[in-house]
Amino acid sequence: QSHRLVDRFGRVVNYLRVSITDRCDFRCVYCMAEDMVFLPRSQILSLEEIHFICQAFVELGVSKIRITGGEPLVRNGALDLLQQLGRIPGLNELVMTSNGSKLATMARDLRAAGVKRINISLDTLDPVKFKVLTRTGDLENVLKGINAAREAEFERIKINAVVLKGRNHLEVCDLVQFAVDRGIDISFIEEMPLGVVDKHDRAEAYYPSHLIRQDLLQRFDLQAIADKTGGPSDYFRVVGSDSRVGFISPHSANFCASCNRVRLTAEGRLLLCLGNEHSIDLKAVVRQHPGDMAALKQAIIDAMQIKPEKHEFNIHEQPVILRHMSVTGG
Ligand code: GTP
Ligand code: 5AD
Ligand code: SF4
Repeated sequence: QSHRLVDRFGRVVNYLRVSITDRCDFRCVYCMAEDMVFLPRSQILSLEEIHFICQAFVELGVSKIRITGGEPLVRNGALDLLQQLGRIPGLNELVMTSNGSKLATMARDLRAAGVKRINISLDTLDPVKFKVLTRTGDLENVLKGINAAREAEFERIKINAVVLKGRNHLEVCDLVQFAVDRGIDISFIEEMPLGVVDKHDRAEAYYPSHLIRQDLLQRFDLQAIADKTGGPSDYFRVVGSDSRVGFISPHSANFCASCNRVRLTAEGRLLLCLGNEHSIDLKAVVRQHPGDMAALKQAIIDAMQIKPEKHEFNIHEQPVILRHMSVTGG
């Protein structure tokens, strides 16, 4: 397979993140505003269009596709789409990020559709805090979802926890213990300033990865490992367990130099960096030239020229990027 997607900095793009809906059944305080307005159906890509675009990317050398949202499983037909994507020759890894709310019923079918690994968001083990952080979520249901995922035997399951000072930072050891007890991985994420959120002060809540690591060392031995999933995490082995702990540190340890990914938003924009607005309108390309694979591929190849070198997130200022995380799936 040829790798034809290379940017101006020599970075090879082999990982596509696809947001299949901006909708979500949760309203996490760091991700959405309470009164989010969602995109009308006419503005989002159809499942056929998403499949066609993914096929183009795989033909151009992409070997890993992560399905995200919003919450991807609230989109009707998500499972059919995953089945279709799972059959694209040359796609080595079909993976997904989910809030876990629908996994109790869907985990088994997702695995059967060919989803290899799944990342599930879980910021706290306290049901009251969970309700405050997600506004509409139910912890018990997500825990059932995580169990169902374990029974479905994904190759790996990873918990994602966004750590917020004063909200859940005292729970990082308990979250690692939760992962260790289940033989799954966990990543801690520094919050990124995307979109204006209410009821939550991002600068005040900033809790850098090195402090989390310090806290964890009180209870666990961590051994740095090179284990790379192609994502931005720095990984450590929890000594004496099957679990890995990852740190995603956009502020304290910039990882842009090794960036290998681009994003397709639910409305069909190809976004070249999470922390910038550089993008091209792939929905327009597929709607103006239906079925024209060559035109689509050329548009994607050309877009690599405008991939920015890095994000310039500043947690202490008002967000420069007004789009919420839910539109790009992180
Ligand atoms: P794997 O390494 O494949 O397990 O996935 P991942 O950790 O990259 O994906 P996931 O969807 O679980 O995202 C975890 C967090 O990493 C989210 O908060 C994402 O926004 C963040 N993230 C993923 N890719 C990037 C990136 O390119 N830039 C930035 N700034 N954040 C990213
Ligand atoms: N900063 C960092 N991570 C975020 N997520 C959602 N919003 C943000 C943000 N502003 C996380 C979710 C999910 C992952 C895809 O991104 O918790 O685990
Ligand atoms: Fe890549 Fe942009 Fe993320 Fe940096 S912020 S790792 S350049 S997508």
